[in-house]
Amino acid sequence: MLPEIIQTAADLSALNTLALPARAEFLATIHQYDQLLEVIRHPDLAGRRRFVLGGGSNLVLTGDFSGLVIQMALKGRELVSEDEQAWYVAANAGENWHEFVQWTLAQGWPGLENLSLIPGTVGAAPIQNIGAYGLEVSELLDHVEAVDLQVGRRIRFDNKDCVFDYRSSLFKQENWHLSGRYAITRVIFRLPKLWRARTGYGEVVTELAKLGARNPTPQQMSQAICAIRERKLPDPSQIPNAGSFFQNPVVSQELAEALASAHPQLPRYPQPNGRIKLAAGWLIEQAGWKGRNLGPVGMYEQQALVLVNRGGAKSRDVQALTRAVREAVLARFGVNLQPEPVFL
Ligand code: EPU
Repeated sequence: MLPEIIQTAADLSALNTLALPARAEFLATIHQYDQLLEVIRHPDLAGRRRFVLGGGSNLVLTGDFSGLVIQMALKGRELVSEDEQAWYVAANAGENWHEFVQWTLAQGWPGLENLSLIPGTVGAAPIQNIGAYGLEVSELLDHVEAVDLQVGRRIRFDNKDCVFDYRSSLFKQENWHLSGRYAITRVIFRLPKLWRARTGYGEVVTELAKLGARNPTPQQMSQAICAIRERKLPDPSQIPNAGSFFQNPVVSQELAEALASAHPQLPRYPQPNGRIKLAAGWLIEQAGWKGRNLGPVGMYEQQALVLVNRGGAKSRDVQALTRAVREAVLARFGVNLQPEPVFL
């Protein structure tokens, strides 16, 4: 007999924000830590392929999954400690990211406000090192707790062990979720008491001016970020999508300069390592794909970097558009875009 929490031939279409249809042979929704151990130790599920799912907001399902999908729904958040410099705040993997951020602000522990309204769960945040408006989660992350699903043992990854980079980490590089070897159970943040608003991003400054906030509070920062996101990014519950569908490409200085001399408007963001980050959304728009559809999918009219499901899309539609956009950008600019979500 399978554990009670296991569903078979489970419909995953509501568990991925692109709303692609797919089924999992087995689905376990984990609300308590012990359920995780029960599932991974169950003899009928031994040796099966595993995939660890969070909010499904950075995921492209390419077909049915034969094996076990483990949906991390562990809830709970708390202040674990505090010293003169910082608050240490923990949240379990299944907490909704935005609700967690709002809760920290309400408690008077600022820091995460620039990451307001990012879809997904706390447990997924470190995997792609979520970032927005001049802040990456890695800057405020103390450590990650996980379980090695092969042996059922807890492990801890300090910030430096996570090998964080732009939209990347050890967990993403080693395809943790795909290999199903580890599951992140809890993330502990270090929120410094010395707080300064991060207003380096031009759009944020404009939005704060609209709010009349000269010395913005953390709440006002969050409000400004939410207003920008609501304007530019489609709400997945209304228009299914997986956020930015491509990474912003980081190219050599030579290529960036060559492109800029042909296209003076090209947005360029110098990186600490001397390379130049380009705006994939700009490249896609210039290549003619902003607001354009291919079958039931398209690139969003307010932000060309976001691939949207206009209704009834299948995985093959997403893959066809991915190819078309990559080819168009490569042909026009010689830049090879890499998709940001995980393809399962
Ligand atoms: N742009 C265009 N056309 C477009 C979209 C963008 O010309 O259709 C230009 C903008 O005018 C701007 C530049 O491209 O000059 C950058 O655009 P934006 O500020 O909107 O940010 P982004 O680089 O497109 C990144 C993140 C977002 C994050 C924003 C804000 C990536 C892959 N995406 O987008 O993250 O919210 O910055 O910090 O790094 C996500 O990862 O899902 C995500 C939404």
